[in-house]
Amino acid sequence: MRIGLSFDLKPDKAPVNDKIDDSMEEYDSMETVELIKSSIEANGHSVTLLGGGSAFLDKIRREKVDFVFNIAEGQGNYRSRESQVPAVLEMLDIPYSGSDPLCLGICLDKELTKKMVAMEGVITPGWQLVANFEELKSTDWNEFMFPLMVKPAHEGSSKGIRLSSVVMNMKELESEAKRQFDGYSQSLMVEEFIGGDEVTVGIIGNEPPQVLAMMRILPRKKTEHFVYSIEVKRDYMELVDYECPPKLDKQVIKKLENAGLKIFKILGCRDFARIDFRLDKDGNPYFLEINPLPGLGSHSDLVIMAAMLGIPHKELINSILTAAVKRYSPCLFL
Ligand SMILES: Nc1ncnc2c1ncn2[C@@H]1O[C@H](COP(=O)(O)OP(=O)(O)OP(=O)(O)O)[C@@H](O)[C@H]1O
Ligand SMILES: [Mg+2]
Repeated sequence: MRIGLSFDLKPDKAPVNDKIDDSMEEYDSMETVELIKSSIEANGHSVTLLGGGSAFLDKIRREKVDFVFNIAEGQGNYRSRESQVPAVLEMLDIPYSGSDPLCLGICLDKELTKKMVAMEGVITPGWQLVANFEELKSTDWNEFMFPLMVKPAHEGSSKGIRLSSVVMNMKELESEAKRQFDGYSQSLMVEEFIGGDEVTVGIIGNEPPQVLAMMRILPRKKTEHFVYSIEVKRDYMELVDYECPPKLDKQVIKKLENAGLKIFKILGCRDFARIDFRLDKDGNPYFLEINPLPGLGSHSDLVIMAAMLGIPHKELINSILTAAVKRYSPCLFL
């Protein structure tokens, strides 16, 4: 097949005037694009680089591709930015990998996602959405117990999430909220902090989707309130140990597996996704958030967990692509 690869590249330099140093964090490096390209080629296809944004719009009309492998994060700071490329592909009736615009749009909005899964009985930390500083000041926080977690309502790649994002009292909550309102110009989620183990669950396929792998993320330095923050993700080789498969009780593994598959279904995910959980002291998984477009670079969690199970990158990419192609009529590709 002639496969188009849609992606958004991380620019060499962050835009001038940026108040924050992680505004480009979710975008991919050329190294990741090349890695995915070579993995698709190793599975016997040819690859056309489509890029993202307006370059993508030009190329998708010009290049005749049979299928698009999509990793584009989308342009701008819009909460539905991940839906942009799939929406164009649906408009042009071009088949593509991964979830559809509706699913991607919902999942980048942390509150909408939590509402949807909570309605179906999935456990998720209690939360309060605050739109601005005045709203934060006028909220009655007595119902919440510190520590609390503060995070931007529609970001990924741990954008905005620092060690300071776990707050112990009102003063820290106000100062962290101010920092995030200033830097990220969006509503904030203030959540109950779940202090147990962190486990991420990778899911692949459709009819039925299956858990590919689970990975526990363990801080090297014992700390009371571990956060898999942007600082930790950038320096993961030094700061954390990954355990895959996780050495957890069989019952806890089962609960994680059930929750992961249930969430994938509720949100209407397709082909692949990675879901983040924290455990409470009794081993109950609390759903934090889902990535229906998880990173596929060599330093991304899904790729790391696959590698730890002996699954090479090209095999991982092939499983995603195969699942995606299968959803369309096979005669499309004859
Ligand atoms: N309610 C919470 N309780 C405890 N820790 C939390 C909570 N919410 C977030 N965290 C910590 O912050 C990290 C990042 O949060 P989250 O996964 O919501 O952000 P993200 O930017 O969407 O992540 P990703 O990089 O996976 O896209 C989590 O992996 C976890 O360590
Ligand atoms: Mg996460």
